[in-house]
Parts: sequence; structure tokens; C-alpha cells
Amino acid sequence: MSFMRTQLTFAHLAGIETELLAVLAADTQTAKGPDAKPLPVLLTSDAAVQAAAAAVLASGEFKAGANETLLLHAPAGLMAKRLLIVGLGKQPKATANSVRSAAGAAVRFAKPRGIRDVALSLPELQQVAGARSARAAVEGALVGDYDPDTYRSDRKDQSVKSFTLAASEKEDQAALEAAFAEGVIVGESQNFTRVLVNEPGNKLTPTILGQRAAEMAAEVGLGWEVHSTEKLHELKMGAFWSVSQGSEEPPALIVLRYEPEGVTDGPVLGLVGKGITFDSGGISLKPGDNMEKMKYDMAGGAAMIGAMRAIALLKPRVRVVGVVCAAENMPDGKAQKPGDVQIAMSGKSIEIINTDAEGRLVLADGLTYARQLGATHLIDAATLTGACVVALGMINAGGFSNDDQTWDKFDDALEISGEKFWRLPLGEEYAELIKSDIGDIKNTGGRWGGASTAAEFLKVFAEDTPWIHLDIAGLAWVEDSRPYIAKGPSGVAVRSILEWVRSF
Ligand code: BES
Ligand code: MN
Ligand code: ZN
Repeated sequence: MSFMRTQLTFAHLAGIETELLAVLAADTQTAKGPDAKPLPVLLTSDAAVQAAAAAVLASGEFKAGANETLLLHAPAGLMAKRLLIVGLGKQPKATANSVRSAAGAAVRFAKPRGIRDVALSLPELQQVAGARSARAAVEGALVGDYDPDTYRSDRKDQSVKSFTLAASEKEDQAALEAAFAEGVIVGESQNFTRVLVNEPGNKLTPTILGQRAAEMAAEVGLGWEVHSTEKLHELKMGAFWSVSQGSEEPPALIVLRYEPEGVTDGPVLGLVGKGITFDSGGISLKPGDNMEKMKYDMAGGAAMIGAMRAIALLKPRVRVVGVVCAAENMPDGKAQKPGDVQIAMSGKSIEIINTDAEGRLVLADGLTYARQLGATHLIDAATLTGACVVALGMINAGGFSNDDQTWDKFDDALEISGEKFWRLPLGEEYAELIKSDIGDIKNTGGRWGGASTAAEFLKVFAEDTPWIHLDIAGLAWVEDSRPYIAKGPSGVAVRSILEWVRSF
């Protein structure tokens, strides 16, 4: 995975021997209008760094825009070989999220330039506590370090080998150390998810996804089971199996268990993920354009696996069970057909209108199974609908819930994770659209409101359990590289799910 060594130090910036010392700056100009020039200010009180950067800051060449960078070689008075100034944008708007991005931008600046050792000065920002900044900074550095070029035969490892966060001695050192250690776990878990999502369908079948989850579980001390065809039949998972039946690859029902010692009552959180390792659409075959992207149709499942990794290492005092339903959706002589009727594990009958609406089918049985395993609260994540991408673009992921209190907890978690989810509606009128003439429900609700009708379908299987559904179709894959994250798998939802779990 990542081989980045991370450390926190309370040494003076001037004395840090490093290839590159990054310092953050914000724009303090509050006036508006054509004459209002940016007023970049370094977010450190270190006199040596202030002096080294004074001339360039005064020059007006650097505006401290978000993730803007400016490099100085051989900065006077510093042991560092280079000084990199990274912008945070407007000072009053700077958040822990801006720090996360800026740290990522510093690492991504270093990578292609052969710089393997980066130090970052923890920014002194009134509105963001040092501990929050420290956690965000190391998360951002780890996330920034990841690149998806795994299968290049001439791949050169450009990863930054050593990342040092330098904080002032005046900070609460114990609090910073704890937050920093947390950030390492979270950043690495997000990258763990991204590695899985990046794998193509031929390299990551449902079986292999199961193996990867099991290896991870053994490493971090989670309970685990990986089942296949027989167990699906035994549990009468007719909806899950109906997707898998058209593929030569057997399905994998992946169960991960986190049971902290001494916690025998209270909630059990059920994390359910869509793990379609390739979605061709099945008999309702997708058009060829962009079909290759459907290797990332297991991103919801991978997010749950990454979140379980972080949970195992951060040890919250609440029981959690992860259920990932992995299958390949393929057209074949044995594949299910539009018009078929399937009986889900819960007993509900489902009329298949479109075999490309397969995610909700595997999740239906995943939700029922998580409830059977004792889940008192459910959260699922899935690259579920193109309609959600149409509605929210690649800016916000969609969120749904049958319980305001449970959603509010998730909303609070977003404040810490910095991820963007927008709550979309459920309702009787949407439920109306998925009623079937021949059975209980059908698996599509027509052209309009597709994200909400898909969520209504899942709600049937959450039954009366408080439940959240996350539709991450638009955010699981970053389409263009950004200064702080590579183009490719994003690892979205890992951080938010983790914080939601920790809020119990
Ligand atoms: N995996 C797709 C959804 C998707 C679309 C993910 C774009 C990522 C990017 C899902 O299985 C699907 O095919 N959904 C259909 C549902 C429709 C047939 C009701 C869709 O959104 O078109
Ligand atoms: Mn599909
Ligand atoms: Zn799909």
C-alpha cells in the first residue's frame, strides 16, 4: 500500500533538514473591488520562514489561492533545501478541509519532481484547532501520495517516502499526537479502498475481493467470513443471486465483524456495500461508451471494507458488522431476463424490469442479512444510479434516510470528514412508482426521479430499521486530476461512514 513514513515533530522550522519544507499561506484581503490586491500572509509565526518568504510575498506574484504553489530554492536561514508556499485561499474561509487539500497539493507537487521527503508546517489558524489541522494534514498527505498507475510496466515509484508534520511547541502536544495518529489510520484506510476500486474486473473478481477483505481483516483483528453460491441459496438470497447467475464468476458474500471487548449491548451498526466488480448491465446491456468505468461499481463495497479497517484500528466502543455483496453483472445464457420475478431473502417478490438496475438487488439481500445479524442501524453505500449524478453532478454525493435523527448524526459526521453529501427525498409518491402488477415491487421506477425510486426500493428492505443510503455514483471516480488528488478512485465515503460510526 503506502510506504510513506509519517511523523510529527515539535522542532523549530529553521532546523528541519528536509528536501522540501511546505508552509501554508492565506489571503487576508477583505476589501473587494478592482483595487483590492491579495494580501497573502504565512500561517506560521516562525521568524526564519517569515524572513525567507518576505520578498516573494511582497512581490505580488503569489496570491495564496487555494492549492496555489510557489517554490523557493535554498531559502536563506533554513536547513530545508526548498521552501514551498501553498495557498489556502481566503483566510476567513479556510477550514480543516482546506488544510487537507493543501497538504495533498504539497505532496503532489513533490512527487513528479523526484522529491521524496516532505515536511509541512502545521498552519496557525484561529478558526481551526491544531489537532483538527494535524489530522487533516496527514490525511491529505497520504491521500495525495496515491497514484493509480499500478499496471504500468515502466512504472517509477514516485511516492514520497517521508512526511513530517512540524508543529509549534506551544500546541497541546498530546492532543496533536493523538489526532495525527488518527489521521494516519484514516488516510491509509481511504487509500486501501482506492487500491481496491482501481483494480480492473479481471484482476478483482468477487472471489478476490473476498480474499482481499479477509487478508485485511486478519491483519487488523476483525472477525470475517466469505461465503459464496451455496450460502446465498441457503439464505434464500434470490435478489443477490439473480445478479450473479449470469456470470462464470461466483458471488462473494463478505461479512466483517468488529466486536469490541466488553461491549455486549447498545446499538449494532450494519454497513452494507454494493460490490459489483463489473457491471455490463446484463441482458439490458449498457452501451459501449465508458463501459470500462463499470469496474468501479464495487466502490460502495470497497468503502465499507476501508471503513471497517479504520474502525478496527481506531476501536470505537460500538459493535459494527460489515456486509458486502460482491458479484459480476453479465449477460449469458443463464443470466436473468427482464420480466423475471425474483424472491428476495425477506420474502418480497421483485419484478425485474431492467437487469442493469442490479445494485439495488444485491443490496436488498445485504440489508436483510445485516438486520438478521442484529444490526439496529443501517448504512449502505453504492454507485447506484446515473440519475444521482445528473441531479448533483460530481460535486455532492446523494444521501437518503428513513430517520431524521440518524441522518443528523451523519450530517454532523460530514463536518469532520469534509465530504459532501446532499440529502435527497424519499416519499410515498416515489414508492408508488415501483409497485409491480405481478409482484410486490419492480426494480426500476421509470425515467424520472431515478435516485429516489432506487432509494425507495432499498427502503423496503431496511424495513423499520433506521437506515441511511449513500449514492456515490458521481464521486467514486475523480474524472480530472486535482492539485491534491490523482485522477481515478477517490475513496469517497470512507471518512464519513467512519465518523458516523464513531458518533454512536
Ligand atoms: N452502476 C450503475 C450506476 C452508475 C452510473 C454508476 C454511472 C456510476 C456511474 C447502476 O447499476 C445502473 O446501471 N443504474 C441504472 C439504473 C436504471 C437501469 C434504472 C442507471 O442509473 O442508468
Ligand atoms: Mn447497472
Ligand atoms: Zn451497477
